[in-house]
Amino acid sequence: MLEVMEVENTVLADGTMVGIRPIKPEDIAALVEFHEGLSFGTVYRRFFGIHPHLAMQEAEHFCAADTVDRFALVAVVDDAVVGVARMERVLPATTAEVAFVVADRFQHRGLGRVLALHLAAAASERGITELVADILPDNLPMLRLLPDAGFAVTVSLVGGIVRQACPIPIQSGTSLPAQ
Ligand SMILES: CC(C)(COP(=O)(O)OP(=O)(O)OC[C@H]1O[C@@H](n2cnc3c(N)ncnc32)[C@H](O)[C@@H]1OP(=O)(O)O)[C@@H](O)C(=O)NCCC(=O)NCCS
Repeated sequence: MLEVMEVENTVLADGTMVGIRPIKPEDIAALVEFHEGLSFGTVYRRFFGIHPHLAMQEAEHFCAADTVDRFALVAVVDDAVVGVARMERVLPATTAEVAFVVADRFQHRGLGRVLALHLAAAASERGITELVADILPDNLPMLRLLPDAGFAVTVSLVGGIVRQACPIPIQSGTSLPAQ
């Protein structure tokens, strides 16, 4: 049985209070607005291409993420989404691919790290023991995020993309997914 995560408030080093909670279907409009406000570079690094708008179907898909195989967290300030962290189970079933995006004005304030730690805990509750992240080779902030947060990252190059993989401890009482 997965624990239902409520909003967890965290204070960034600059004093900003941020709520971290699972994404929900009611977040569609806020997620679209968040995406529209991202810089070209931030979108490019997240989606590996030009992706200025989220289609409604895509936003619905992103906001319906609380299942045992897919999960996402949003960081919220004054009801506005300022960051998203998501995981999706891949093969083997104890591995999850993760992705992060933080609003430009909130970057370099420690929010990515907070999201990574919360996402790892949520992944662990879902029986995940390894996170993988695919990263553009020039994306230094993301290349440093997981190692700086304390994860023991191994690196490989897959078709010109950097793949980081790191183990996470499994939480006791977690039921593993059916293979
Ligand atoms: C990658 C990304 C999610 C990181 O988010 P972030 O909130 O900026 O991450 P953090 O603030 O935790 O860490 C980033 C930097 O801020 C620094 N930092 C952390 N806490 C800080 C603080 N309190 N004050 C100042 N700097 C801080 C970190 O040392 C790190 O420094 P570096 O960039 O020189 O390595 C963000 O840059 C982003 O959205 N990028 C575009 C999308 C993307 O690349 N996604 C990855 C695809 S998987």
